[in-house]
Amino acid sequence: MTQPRKSIHGSWSSRLAFILAATGSAVGLGNIWKFPYIAGENGGGAFVLVYLVCIGLIGIPIMMAEVMLGRRGRQSPINTMRALAAEAGANPAWRWLGWAGVVAGFLILSYYSVIAGWALAYVFRSMAGVFTGATAEGVSSIFTQLTEDPERLLAWHTLFMVMTMIVVARGVKSGLEQAVRFLVPALFVLLLLLDGYAMASGSFDQGLNFLFTPDFSKITANGVLIAMGHAFFTLSLGMGAIMVYGSYLPDRTSVARTSIIIALLDTLVALLAGMAIFPIVFANGLEPGAGPGLIFQTLPIAFGHMAGGGLFGTLFFVLLVFAAWTSAISLIEPAVAWLVENKGVTRVYASVYAGVATWSMGLLTILSFSHWANFYPLSYIPVFEKYTVFDLLDYLTANIMLPLGGLAIAIFSAWVMRRRDSVQELDMGDATAYRLWHFLVRYVTPIAVIIVFLNVTGLVDF
Ligand code: PHE
Repeated sequence: MTQPRKSIHGSWSSRLAFILAATGSAVGLGNIWKFPYIAGENGGGAFVLVYLVCIGLIGIPIMMAEVMLGRRGRQSPINTMRALAAEAGANPAWRWLGWAGVVAGFLILSYYSVIAGWALAYVFRSMAGVFTGATAEGVSSIFTQLTEDPERLLAWHTLFMVMTMIVVARGVKSGLEQAVRFLVPALFVLLLLLDGYAMASGSFDQGLNFLFTPDFSKITANGVLIAMGHAFFTLSLGMGAIMVYGSYLPDRTSVARTSIIIALLDTLVALLAGMAIFPIVFANGLEPGAGPGLIFQTLPIAFGHMAGGGLFGTLFFVLLVFAAWTSAISLIEPAVAWLVENKGVTRVYASVYAGVATWSMGLLTILSFSHWANFYPLSYIPVFEKYTVFDLLDYLTANIMLPLGGLAIAIFSAWVMRRRDSVQELDMGDATAYRLWHFLVRYVTPIAVIIVFLNVTGLVDF
């Protein structure tokens, strides 16, 4: 490498710090808000199985690839890809992969922040005790009152974006490392508590059955794409978030081991969330396919009826906000790192520019839940018949942009990059493990992504 192998943005203080930060990026609304609602919409068990297979066969190897590229490039994903393409003697156009990631991160954060705003609003609702003794209908009307009011959504979205910009402006290391250290364990404890509640008073068997008994007649080609897209989304892959975090990683750290730990923690959080939510759904005669409001319409029922529910509910939503916060930071970090590197601005200005742009884009999502709630821009395409602007944004990013980004990362790491460079950078010490990784990234990921895409477009039919 010609450029110094050190990031100008600083580096993590230890391997543990990286694990915490990357776990903070991975664990977020994707696990607790999105996973249950898309599993519910896509029939449960079979969807969950496809998702788990994608995490193992695609997610973990791609995470290793992203960390590896980031650590070797030591810059924002755009400049990392440019430098690594030069090193491999490949076309400089690979830097566009970095750009695609910046755009995906911007689009995702624009709606992510609005949903995180719901969680913020729910912190205060729980604190005020509005859920105490509430029925399913009561809880559901509290939810619609919030989401149908664009002004309230705007206020919470603004607050969340400001929170994100403040941490990003201060640098990834100072605030973030500390927050995650306490957040991840606390989140586990609260989820276990909710699982305990679901076990004691929900329809636990029915919930588990829904999540873990695969019924393949319930899953469509589109459902398979959504499961694969979610594997990328939940692990923060395909857009450079993990790559940019990898660029702050100290040299001698096992990429393989850390990636596996992060993926396992992330999956565990999603499954624990699902196991808490579905028993409550069935015990209260609610609809598993209720959509994006699912957790906001189920968990408050549990909080409203358990001893100390006001306190636990408040804590739960506080943790959800934290989980979303640590993910939001990583969504915007690739853009901020690039602005600092190429435009010579300070982190403070860079976060303001990127934050204001994202905030404005968020208005589309706010409208999707209020004035545009019945506006389906692509209703002439059967799959998108009932997709709002928000649904389309989510679909475009999670199910198209991230898997395509992952595909490009796979091709670059296992076809373009020189083998001796990836051997050196991954430093696995075990030739068989390296070969397994190389095989998965070289063949399995590209073929799987392409087949799932062809399948959903109906060009081939499985
Ligand atoms: N992984 C995050 C979540 O599950 C979302 C995310 C996606 C973060 C892509 C960064 C990049 O909530």
